[in-house]
Amino acid sequence: MKKQVKAKAASGDKIDQIIDKYQGEASALIQILLEIQSENHWLSKEALEKVSQRLGVPLSRIQHVATFYKAFSLVPKGRHEIHICLGTACHVRGAPRVLDAVQDLLGIRPGETDTDLKFSLETVNCLGCCALGPVMEVDGKYHGKMVPGKVADVLKSYD
Ligand code: FES
Repeated sequence: MKKQVKAKAASGDKIDQIIDKYQGEASALIQILLEIQSENHWLSKEALEKVSQRLGVPLSRIQHVATFYKAFSLVPKGRHEIHICLGTACHVRGAPRVLDAVQDLLGIRPGETDTDLKFSLETVNCLGCCALGPVMEVDGKYHGKMVPGKVADVLKSYD
């Protein structure tokens, strides 16, 4: 079961500012959603409703766009995204134990976000740097040759 998290939505003012920047142009829908996503780390229902109202674009169309592109999340995400590689090269070198360590420390499973909205956890099949396996990537930074004992130190470096 997904962990329930309380998520802050970007204030209405901030969303208005983003929309104003694009003069409320419906053609800027994707750019506007990308900026709200980047600000909030997800797109709340309230945010989508506001965009719909301000741009005069039906909510159903906005929801369609938001679910179509992988860049958007309709569930709360943490400030930091962790990807644990479970591809073959990483798997045979102990990636499942690294994943266990992350799960134990954060209390979440892949696809979930912690209650502080600090970390979201996902697994991937290969990060393209197999020689460094097991690899844990956080916000695009690769941490190679991971062992369970190093996980806490890596996570501590993110606030
Ligand atoms: S299998 Fe993990 S980086 Fe390729």
